[in-house]
Amino acid sequence: MPLPEKNNRVIVTSALPYANGDLHIGHLLEHVQTDIWVRLLRTNNITCHYVCASDAHGTPIMLRAKELGTEPEKMVEEFRSSHIKDLQSFNISHDNFYTTHSDENKYFSELIYKKAKESGFIESRQIEQLFDESAGLFLSDRYVKGTCPKCSAEDQYGDNCEICGAKYEAAELGDPVSTISGQKPVVRSSEHVFFELSKLESNVAAWMKSTPLQEAVKNKLEEWFQQGLRDWDISRDSPYFGFEIPDMPDKYFYVWLDAPIGYIASLENYLNSETKETAEDIWSESANTEIYHFIGKDIMNFHALFWPALLETSKFKKPSNVFVHGFLGLNGAKMSKSKGNFLSMRDYLDILDADYIRYYLASKLSPSIDDIDLNYEDFQQKVNSDLVGKFVNIASRSAGFLKKNDNQIGNDIDLEIYKKFISSKDKITNLFADLEYSKAIKEIMKLADSANAYVDENKPWILAKDDKNKEEVIKISSTTINLFRVINFYLKIVIPDTCSKGESFLNESINSINDIDAPLTNHKINSFSPILNRLEDENLEALIKRGSNG
Ligand code: 2FM
Ligand code: ZN
Repeated sequence: MPLPEKNNRVIVTSALPYANGDLHIGHLLEHVQTDIWVRLLRTNNITCHYVCASDAHGTPIMLRAKELGTEPEKMVEEFRSSHIKDLQSFNISHDNFYTTHSDENKYFSELIYKKAKESGFIESRQIEQLFDESAGLFLSDRYVKGTCPKCSAEDQYGDNCEICGAKYEAAELGDPVSTISGQKPVVRSSEHVFFELSKLESNVAAWMKSTPLQEAVKNKLEEWFQQGLRDWDISRDSPYFGFEIPDMPDKYFYVWLDAPIGYIASLENYLNSETKETAEDIWSESANTEIYHFIGKDIMNFHALFWPALLETSKFKKPSNVFVHGFLGLNGAKMSKSKGNFLSMRDYLDILDADYIRYYLASKLSPSIDDIDLNYEDFQQKVNSDLVGKFVNIASRSAGFLKKNDNQIGNDIDLEIYKKFISSKDKITNLFADLEYSKAIKEIMKLADSANAYVDENKPWILAKDDKNKEEVIKISSTTINLFRVINFYLKIVIPDTCSKGESFLNESINSINDIDAPLTNHKINSFSPILNRLEDENLEALIKRGSNG
């Protein structure tokens, strides 16, 4: 897939984290994947708005606030600011991190709903649901447990059985119990609002066909088509934390209706503070805009079925692509707080700098939706051998020779090898553009190997023993520092802090990929000081200890 069109404006999103718990390194995987892509676009001079927000609504948020003895609005704002702090510490370069509990989101949710209604895709129906009389709540599937109607396994959730895999309605469970109150729920009927997705099958299919989705994503979506797309229940009964549905007192939009609309609302909020443009214009069907959503594989149906259908009926632009990744495991096992295998973003930051894990995650990412594992030993080995042993080494072993030249890069550079490094530009850019981060990192490390081989072959430390070789030593070292500079630029989208230190050493700051076409000559650099330290055993032990506290 090529980069987006230079003349188009690009909107990029990461999924909106729920504002009821700490962010963990699973969230980080997605934000790092998105952030590298956004930084790639920006260094290729493409106008790009990277927006995200707190996902503020729904029953779990409402119940958590109650548990904490606070109001949901207050809790959401507190989690939102702590999430912003964590994400900024990892250098995730959002243009805006808003909230779905906002005026803008209410406006767009109502607008999109009204348009869908006007175009004939909204219908009210009476449905039966389990109701917890002591909690005064209708129970969604996750709040009911009981006996599987197929295999009689006990303690199964209200939607499917973990033992035999059967799918069923919560009301079919034997001996159902509310997980909120422990009481037996009763069946009650209530009016719900449906978005008639079944009428939009051919439309969503056409969007899928014209979109370069990952193969595994296409396959998964096709499974849903085989069963036939079912109408989608977009309402919830009071009490609920969300937006009330216009003209339907005590009925609320289901959180998954207003969550993706939160992308548009976050953009609107950003534009209002920056420009006179509106999200309605930029997200309109006719705008020169490309829209890319980065998500995990568990929320594909919301982004690649419901969302394009909603955008279709409300005449907004549909996604140019939905990029899907797998889950992040920790040391070979699923991350789980209760099982003591869990690492929050804050826990990581208390011990290590962001770039180590940014690099490691990038080195593991690809367009596959298979799960990725953070293996602690592999993490230490990769960071030390690639970043410290190969990349930083290029600068550290050459800087001393230029120091003797008053830190001055000379005029004469070995252009043959420099050009070779520049000629990798398109390949590396295209690999990143295609989400082939792991392959891109391998290409960059091949260049680091070549740069080190160049030094090994030219042996400046031997030449430097004789003053008559002075010019040659300066040429070799000036060339090597220039090779470092190219790699530093290629890596800048992955490990921005380290490469910004690399730029301080080089005594320059560049933002466009075109800036590396010409080498640095006759240029004074700064004295070298280590730009990244080895990841030592004690750091790793501290991290493992945190990760196993759950
Ligand atoms: O699965 C989740 O964590 C959701 N909060 C993601 C929402 S993404 C978007 F649609 F808002
Ligand atoms: Zn079963």
